[in-house]
Amino acid sequence: MTAKLNVNIDHVATIREARKTIEPSIITAAVICEQAGANGITVHLRGDRRHIQDRDIELLRDVVTTYLNVEMAATEEMVGIALRTKPDAVSLVPESPNEVTTEGGLNVVDNFENVKDAVTKLRDAGIFVSIFIDPDTEQINAAKGAGAQQVELCTAEYAELTLSSRAAHGEGEQKAAAETERIRTAAIHAKSLGMIVAAGHGLTYRNIGALSAITEITEFNIGHNIISRSVFVGLNQAVREMIEACQNR
Ligand code: PXP
Repeated sequence: MTAKLNVNIDHVATIREARKTIEPSIITAAVICEQAGANGITVHLRGDRRHIQDRDIELLRDVVTTYLNVEMAATEEMVGIALRTKPDAVSLVPESPNEVTTEGGLNVVDNFENVKDAVTKLRDAGIFVSIFIDPDTEQINAAKGAGAQQVELCTAEYAELTLSSRAAHGEGEQKAAAETERIRTAAIHAKSLGMIVAAGHGLTYRNIGALSAITEITEFNIGHNIISRSVFVGLNQAVREMIEACQNR
């Protein structure tokens, strides 16, 4: 079985919000991704609404026919929006106001009661719940204890280690291989607990190969690299190329 690809289209909204206008359309982007073969659409509704807006979630809910995954912080406001709009899945992520993008996984161990409360409300409404965590045994156990059906393993560290061609040699190569093993071990552990395993953050056409070979990972959430490439080759082709890259098993 090949891994599923959910395309994160936040950056289409980032361009739109740069001018506070109506283009490029997030809806057109979602439809093109689906037509290109994406298994789902992911968006992150941030507290500061820097890209995706509340109305986008409502429109996407009407338009997305594959799978709508909304990333959000485990706050009362966000859970309320999810309960109203009913995406197929919610991915709970940490959020801090000044970050450029999500920095690492959610600390479920330290925020257990709050996370469990959010998971319970979402699951009671029939929404599938994933938690974005670092590839760490304790965090996986806590996510399971909180009632999540899926963990999304944070690949930010792996992405950093594989970012430049310099990192792909010598010591850098060894560190990247060690991080790949950390992710593999975490994926095996989460699966052994009966959880579905996803991964994401900073993944690219160049670094996805080693992770797509980890068969316990059955879903990838990828945004920045696909939207960046789409500027030059178009969104349909950019998505198709990433689907192909995810099939390296
Ligand atoms: N998964 C999660 C939980 C994220 O927060 C993000 C970034 O929004 C991604 C995956 C996608 O990361 P990238 O845009 O670097 O591919």
